[in-house]
This record gives sequence, C-alpha cells and structure tokens, in this order.
Amino acid sequence: MSAPATPHQELDQIAGAVADVATADAGRLAELRTAYLGRKSGRLTQILRSLGEVPPAERRELGRRANEVKRALEDAISARESELARAERGARDLDLTMPGRPVWRGVLHPVQAVVDEICDIFKEIGFTRVGGPEAETEDYNFTKLNMPLDHPAADEHDTFYLRPGVLLRTHTSPMQARVMERHQPPIRIVVPGRVYRRDSFDPSHSPVFEQIEGLAVDEGVSFVDFKAGIDFFVRRFFSTDTVVRFRPSFFPFTEPSAEVDVQCQICRGSGCPTCKQTGFLEIMGAGMVHPAVFENCGIDSERYTGYAFGMGPDRITMLRHGIPDIRLLYESDMRFLAQFEEGR
Ligand code: PHE
Repeated sequence: MSAPATPHQELDQIAGAVADVATADAGRLAELRTAYLGRKSGRLTQILRSLGEVPPAERRELGRRANEVKRALEDAISARESELARAERGARDLDLTMPGRPVWRGVLHPVQAVVDEICDIFKEIGFTRVGGPEAETEDYNFTKLNMPLDHPAADEHDTFYLRPGVLLRTHTSPMQARVMERHQPPIRIVVPGRVYRRDSFDPSHSPVFEQIEGLAVDEGVSFVDFKAGIDFFVRRFFSTDTVVRFRPSFFPFTEPSAEVDVQCQICRGSGCPTCKQTGFLEIMGAGMVHPAVFENCGIDSERYTGYAFGMGPDRITMLRHGIPDIRLLYESDMRFLAQFEEGR
C-alpha cells in the first residue's frame, strides 16, 4: 500500500484504525499509541504540528478533523486499556489450579444394602417383597398371632404405645396376619421394616431396629421345606460351607419353633467374644405357622401348612462388616457411613 497523498487521506486511514483498537492486546495498544499519538513521530501529532503550513482556506477544516480523529483514537485506546485491566483482575481471582469440590454421591445405608440383598435371595425362590405399617394395632401385633395381651410373651416386647390399642410394632410378624387375611395360599412373602421396643441403647440393643419377616404357606409345606428354605438363604448369603444350626425355641405363633444360628463369621466357629465362645450366632426366630394363627386369619389349617421366620438384618450387617456396636448403624455419622461408599 502506497503512502497516502494528502493529510485528509491520511486522516481517513487513521480513523479506520480506530476499529482495530477494540481487539488489540496490551503490546499492540502501545504500538498504536506510538504510531499515531507519539510525541515526536506520531502521525496525528505530525499532522497537527504541520497545520501551520497548510493554506489558510483548508487549515480550519483539517484541524477540526484531525482533532476529532485524535479524540476518537484516544477514547478507544483508554476504553480498551480498562477492558484489558478488568480481564486481568478477573483472571487473578479465578484460580485455575484450585482442586474441584468433591461430589457427594448418595449410597445405600449398609443395613439397607443387606436388606435388599436378603430380599433378592428370597426372590430367587419365589418370595415377593411387601411392606407394612409401623403403627399397628394390638390386634395384629399380638392377638391374631396367638399372643393374648396377658401372655408373658406380650409383656416381653416392651411396647411403645401411641394411644390405647395402637402401638409401634414390636416385630414384623403382624404382616403375616395382614397378608393372610387378604390372600389365600399359596403365599410367599418377605417383609422388611423397622420395629420398636423399649430397650435402651447399648452395643447390641437399640429401641429401633430392622427385621425381615418371611412367610411361606401352601398345601403340603413341611418342616423339611422350612429347613431347606433357611439353608438356601444362609448358603447364598454367607457361604456354601457355613454351618447352620436349628435350636428348639418358643414363639406363640409357631409350632414347633426354632432359633436359627449360623457359624460365627468372625472366628469361623472356633469361639470369640462376639459369639461368646460358642462358635455360633443367632440370626433369626422361626417355625411352622401355628394352626391358631391360620384360623385367626381365615385360612383352613387342615388344608394348609407353612413356615415363618423373623430375622435381624442389623445383626447380620454387623456380622458381615465386623461392626462392634449397633448404635453406629443409627447415628447417621457420615464418617462411619462414608466407609460404605462402594456399597456392599
Ligand atoms: N417375631 C419374632 C420376634 O420378633 C420372630 C419370629 C418371626 C419368630 C416369625 C417366628 C416366626 O422375635
């Protein structure tokens, strides 16, 4: 490009350069300032300085234009300068090396994970998972289960009453009655849920804990089916070589009744403080459904038989993870719970 011939053409070119200022970086800005406004050889400076040599007729117009272009250029440069300064300040506030905030990832509570796993195992042999109310009537919690209110077994369940006749369920067994009243056999259900007893907190007791009720009713269900069902669960949940023990026991709603022990998972049966040197740990109460319970719920006890069990998933969770104190499961302490992030 050849040099402009007249001062007017030169001013046109300089006015055109004002647009470049808006995108100039700091270095380019300094160059532009020197090239146009420089005290010695800036092109605008020179034009203004040489006005005296311009014929008087043109001087006025040229001077006006030169000053106009100069002001526009100065304004554009200072606007760009403050823009760059602002950007630099912003960049300083934004620390790109700062580590990101960790993302909170929700996970299942360890007891919930065990409950799900247990229910899934029973699902494999035809059980359906159902839920029931935590506020129950005396009728379902005790009476229909062949447990009269003056029976010592009812006293043993130190009960939280909500109002006369209504209580917080002391076990999940009331769901046996609720389901049998509404459904004729075949029945196969598991019922996980919270239960309440007036125990005070200690390492192995909590006034609120978890149970899973199981009920299987059909024609010809025998004690062998009962043992086989429990055995299947224990082998599947613990390991195929886990030893299971059925001990005679008593519950008003089962006859015969048993308590089921598994080989202590901590010492593998050799005896330790957790199993009180017995090598076994109790995981559930169970038995064949008492005929009186069938009759209370409208099921023909001549035709049908069944088995029921109630197990404690908190206990089982503690066993699995070697947790020494049940309170840890109910205190919602993130330092404890965060350890289960990878699930079971
Ligand atoms: N409901 C009993 C308890 O809470 C356990 C149980 C359930 C026993 C079903 C037998 C049959 O202790």
